[in-house]
Amino acid sequence: MRTVRVELGERSYDISIERGILKEAGPMMKALGLKGSAAIVTNPTVAALYGNTVVKSLEAAGFKTSVIIVPDGEEYKSLEEAGKVFDSLIEGRFERTSPIVALGGGVIGDLAGFVAATYLRGVPFIQVPTTLLSQVDSSVGGKTAVNHPRGKNLIGAFYQPRAVFIDPDVLKTLEEREVRAGLAEVIKYGVIWDSSFFAFLEENAARLLEPGEEIIKAIEKSCAIKAEVVGKDEREEGLRAILNFGHTFGHAIEALSGYGTFRHGEAVAIGMAMAAELSAKLGGSKECAPRITALLKRLGMPSEPPSISVGSFLDAMKLDKKVSSGRIRFVLASKMGEVFLKEVCEDVLKEFLSGQGRQTGSSGVLP
Ligand SMILES: NC(=O)c1ccc[n+]([C@@H]2O[C@H](COP(=O)([O-])OP(=O)(O)OC[C@H]3O[C@@H](n4cnc5c(N)ncnc54)[C@H](O)[C@@H]3O)[C@@H](O)[C@H]2O)c1
Repeated sequence: MRTVRVELGERSYDISIERGILKEAGPMMKALGLKGSAAIVTNPTVAALYGNTVVKSLEAAGFKTSVIIVPDGEEYKSLEEAGKVFDSLIEGRFERTSPIVALGGGVIGDLAGFVAATYLRGVPFIQVPTTLLSQVDSSVGGKTAVNHPRGKNLIGAFYQPRAVFIDPDVLKTLEEREVRAGLAEVIKYGVIWDSSFFAFLEENAARLLEPGEEIIKAIEKSCAIKAEVVGKDEREEGLRAILNFGHTFGHAIEALSGYGTFRHGEAVAIGMAMAAELSAKLGGSKECAPRITALLKRLGMPSEPPSISVGSFLDAMKLDKKVSSGRIRFVLASKMGEVFLKEVCEDVLKEFLSGQGRQTGSSGVLP
């Protein structure tokens, strides 16, 4: 078993990574001192594939289980659905010591985590992430949230899980497009923190889409990097912002293309390629952009922006991030494995975005 520790004082916890770990969820929760009734929050897709395995394991370890099903989709990461989960917990008389288990991707993890943070002012929370994105990113670090009609993740809390159980075997049933989307965040960790990890991804690109040893190693390393960053800055008061590399451009692309056109990871992939280009223009690394773009292409991921006008792009970025006197903050690369934060003024961004379409030769960003 591979274990990554998230060091947060009395809220520290282990991320355990092993093939077949779903079958061990019950004994592992018992070993943490948990007992009694457990609520498994999941969706119909994941419940059909893995619900029984987790229920059996928990029941064999002495837990009384209830499975709470939330419909599949980002649109159900809402206060309304959270309300229905609260109803089930209250009807089932779940107590302050009763654990909530999130079994699913980032949508389920974020929603179940928000419920765990707030039900009876907080109950034990276990993350069992089943998408690559949730295994390397959303299940680690304690950000929980639901969406508001006016924006994503506007209602939430920092609430750390008691443990994260990652079973790489569940990736076998995940659509390849979802695996690719998760890989964008994996690549991000190499760029922001560890050039040798980026080189490992370059060397093993051909095997990262298979559920073999290379992807397990990549999951472990990604979790270790996120754990280190979160351990230093849990509430994003400084360092944690570097995890947003590629996300300022990415979020704008997601919003302007209509949510659902690009997977989050695909938009982040394009955003990382753009952030690396911007880095080269503003005194940062010139080496990162070609390497990131080449790796994204080898993995079958997009790296060029869709046709969006410069004005709309700027407006969307201003909405997404805190802007002070017309300057938007970016995470830029100084070299592979090292980034810095920089506020960039609107004129510079306008010029950069106007050049994007011409540079790539694609329809790109339109002036
Ligand atoms: N909390 C954080 O720090 C954080 C970080 C990044 C993203 N997020 C959030 O994560 C969410 C996106 O998560 P996601 O990309 O995992 O999407 P998702 O949860 O919607 O899962 C994608 C699809 O895969 C299906 N699925 C899940 N596991 C499967 C499996 N093993 N086999 C087959 N199908 C499976 C799901 O049912 C769903 O249809 C967004 O809401 C985003 O805001 C949170």
